[in-house]
Amino acid sequence: MIRTISSAPIAGQKPGTSGLRKKTSAFMEPGYLENFIQSIWNGIGGVQGKCLVVGGDGRYFNTKAVQIILKMAAASGASKVIVGQGGLLSTPAASHLIRLKKADGGIILSASHNPGGLDGDFGVKFNTSNGGPAPEAVTEAIYQASLGLSEYLILEAADLDLSNVGLTRLADMTVEVVDPVNDYADLMEKLFDFEAIRTLFSNGFTLAFDAMHAVTGPYAHEILVRRLGADETSVLNATPLPDFGGGHPDPNPVWAHELMTKMMQPDAPDFGAASDGDGDRNMILGRQVYVTPSDSLAVIAANAHLAPGYVKGLAGVARSMPTSSALDRVAEARGLECHATPTGWKFFGNLLDAGRATLCGEESAGTGSDHIREKDGLWAVLMWLNILAKRQISVAEVMRNHWQEFGRNYYSRHDYEELDATAAQELIDELRQRLDQMAGQELGALTISAAEDFSYKDPIDGSITTGQGIQIHFIEGARLVLRLSGTGTSGATLRVYMERFNSGPSGLESDPQEALAEVITACEKLTSLRQRFGRERPDVIT
Ligand code: G1P
Ligand code: ZN
Repeated sequence: MIRTISSAPIAGQKPGTSGLRKKTSAFMEPGYLENFIQSIWNGIGGVQGKCLVVGGDGRYFNTKAVQIILKMAAASGASKVIVGQGGLLSTPAASHLIRLKKADGGIILSASHNPGGLDGDFGVKFNTSNGGPAPEAVTEAIYQASLGLSEYLILEAADLDLSNVGLTRLADMTVEVVDPVNDYADLMEKLFDFEAIRTLFSNGFTLAFDAMHAVTGPYAHEILVRRLGADETSVLNATPLPDFGGGHPDPNPVWAHELMTKMMQPDAPDFGAASDGDGDRNMILGRQVYVTPSDSLAVIAANAHLAPGYVKGLAGVARSMPTSSALDRVAEARGLECHATPTGWKFFGNLLDAGRATLCGEESAGTGSDHIREKDGLWAVLMWLNILAKRQISVAEVMRNHWQEFGRNYYSRHDYEELDATAAQELIDELRQRLDQMAGQELGALTISAAEDFSYKDPIDGSITTGQGIQIHFIEGARLVLRLSGTGTSGATLRVYMERFNSGPSGLESDPQEALAEVITACEKLTSLRQRFGRERPDVIT
């Protein structure tokens, strides 16, 4: 029986950088999830007769939320929902399924790398029929729908058993439970030279992949161990847990310190990698080497042709504005079109759809290509394995050669977390007001050449997005970016991104924080942020 439940708008159901993210406890409040799901249906013109993909990263409340969404889809007349077995789907696998099954869209349940559990975070993201995160116009329509919501529809029915693959029904709606891993693994097998990677492993190459107790465990096991022959023990923390084992499933040197420590030993495995809660982020390591996400993106751009899926070369490349311009160096040398977009994967969608970019990436450990419309953690790992298998050199040598050829963009991001939201916004507003007077200003050893509040005009649909971060260029070949996070759930997080180019051939092996010391000083002189917020140092340095 379909029930119409009267409701009222709930404040703050505004999707951010990547869907709606809130405390799990907020999402579990009566009607909270239901209101947002109904707002999605209303915002996209209903789901009558439509086919949707649904799945999540397995965090606390995932199973319950999937059942609610199924009942709400059935109540609003959806014809079919394709759901991952047990309600699980990594974000890249969900994106792939939407495309493969020609679905009208999908709902991904995840708060990405944010901790899970009752005290952690939960999130809901709507992806469109191209498999990618809904663009701004769609998320805005969903938000507007949430503001005018007066009721939601839900089927009164028992929960479905999602533990077995196969077809079942919920009232008039078909529910297809699919293996979450297989189709995705098949896609990877088409893109990369599995034969070469298998040979690499059979010749004794060693790997440590940290799934961080999140969704990629089963994917990594199937692909790396079963299909490619890596040793069983290569996949660490492989069992997905609702609270990620109490950890913070973010693959960076701070949160993946266990793997980091292992890889910094002289007898470490040849290659190390990790992925996040929902499997779209990655961290790349070699024996005693950490590869920054920005460098990884540049290396992939320079070497992608070694993988069968990319032998024809790249149509173009794109990075988010705060990401280092290491990618631009490769693009320039190879004559590739190169785009800088606002932060968030949704801004790559149009470029990928239009064939203007094959490869995209963000400094926040996201890399991907036009094979799907999300960033893809395991894809990046396989791309690196493919490069290493073909080039037969170590990760350290790949990096050394890359910097010799293209120069090195020293890069780091400093995060100040849980700041007072008003005070953080005031800092950005103040900087905005001073932008016009900044050119020529000396900040210690550096002089500002240009300053702007980044805005982006989408070259495909002409849409304009403003206020995307304060970007300051220095004549010495350095850059400073300040922006507020759009994915946090409490207070404000200020992200400070710093970059400085060294063309080599000497000075290519310095410590990044030392190489960036003058940019760090310039930032402090410009903003006095440490004093202003009473912080001695950033909370997270990546
Ligand atoms: C962060 C990252 C951004 C990424 C997003 C979703 O957003 O900075 O690159 O696309 O998470 O994974 P932010 O919190 O900075 O808005
Ligand atoms: Zn993620």
